[in-house]
Amino acid sequence: MGIFSKKGASGFSASSTAEEVTQEIDGIGLTAIVTGATSGIGLETSRVLALRGVHVVMATRNMNAGNNVKEEILKEIPNARIDVMELDLSSLASVRKFAAEFDSKGFPLNILVNNAGIMADTFKLSKDNIELDFATNHLGHFLLTNLLLETMKRTTRESNREGRIVNVSSMCHQDSYREGIRFDSINDKSRYRKYKAYEESKLANILHANELTRRLKEERVEITANSLHPGIIRTNIIRKHIFVQCFLKVLGLISMTKTIQQGAATTCFLALHPQVKGISGEYFVDCNIAKPSSQANDADLAKRLWDFSLSLTNHKE
Ligand SMILES: NC(=O)c1ccc[n+]([C@@H]2O[C@H](COP(=O)([O-])OP(=O)(O)OC[C@H]3O[C@@H](n4cnc5c(N)ncnc54)[C@H](OP(=O)(O)O)[C@@H]3O)[C@@H](O)[C@H]2O)c1
Repeated sequence: MGIFSKKGASGFSASSTAEEVTQEIDGIGLTAIVTGATSGIGLETSRVLALRGVHVVMATRNMNAGNNVKEEILKEIPNARIDVMELDLSSLASVRKFAAEFDSKGFPLNILVNNAGIMADTFKLSKDNIELDFATNHLGHFLLTNLLLETMKRTTRESNREGRIVNVSSMCHQDSYREGIRFDSINDKSRYRKYKAYEESKLANILHANELTRRLKEERVEITANSLHPGIIRTNIIRKHIFVQCFLKVLGLISMTKTIQQGAATTCFLALHPQVKGISGEYFVDCNIAKPSSQANDADLAKRLWDFSLSLTNHKE
């Protein structure tokens, strides 16, 4: 048996697919938002959640692409319940507009999958003048989660079912800047380092889930927040970076890449599987609890990031 199919405590391995890890799970009556649902892991997550009966709201920045994906899924699963809504995570105004529109529809919310991500190749600023990787991968999701939390809490109370927040991070989080998050120079072009900025934002995804867990536990709310590394999958985010592909080749890691079906497995496991009930503030790889870097487990860093993100988003708790 290869290392790829070696099962962990959950009974699943790197070779398990999203369909396999959600086999026979009934998602009818649940509503999920999936960000970045137009390609790669987000698309497959949306498809498999819909296959299990979940009402999926695909949050996409490109409505045409979103509607095409919806049509494709409906061809395969005619009774799927899917909505497409516009969300550009690199714009705080767009995040606020999305959350207000979602609320106005009166939808419940059981599962929030913070999946969308970019790996910028040069220093760029978002519409709110924040470095683009940090703005898209962390800050947009931070605000989105805060704005949707009341709806999630209400759904949890009314449905008597645990709410779940799933942050798609990356193993790259362990290679962030030495200080973890560069609070004092997030927008400093002269100190920007291409891949480090992505790695920093992926560290932020884990710290976000951990501090959120602490707060939800303090409030005794039945909503969990976990983070994950999906594996290495040749999706658009990787295809756009020749250097990353060469790096994988040189290290012999190309043969270790997952299919998209395998790449969406841990996300779908965390969103739906009964094994994960009550588990929060953990980091998962291949559907099993794993150990993130010591920076990712630093509670003070997580608290500092929370306060920093609150101030950048002007969000009042
Ligand atoms: N692939 C890997 O090997 C790997 C490894 C570790 C972690 N991850 C993580 O997995 C997640 C999904 O990535 P993927 O591999 O599936 O890549 P992908 O195919 O490039 O998908 C990224 C998704 O994010 C969306 N997106 C980008 N910027 C956005 C914005 N400003 N607002 C809203 N949506 C936006 C994209 O929309 P458009 O279609 O409009 O561009 C796309 O739907 C990311 O968080 C990534 O960091 C991936």
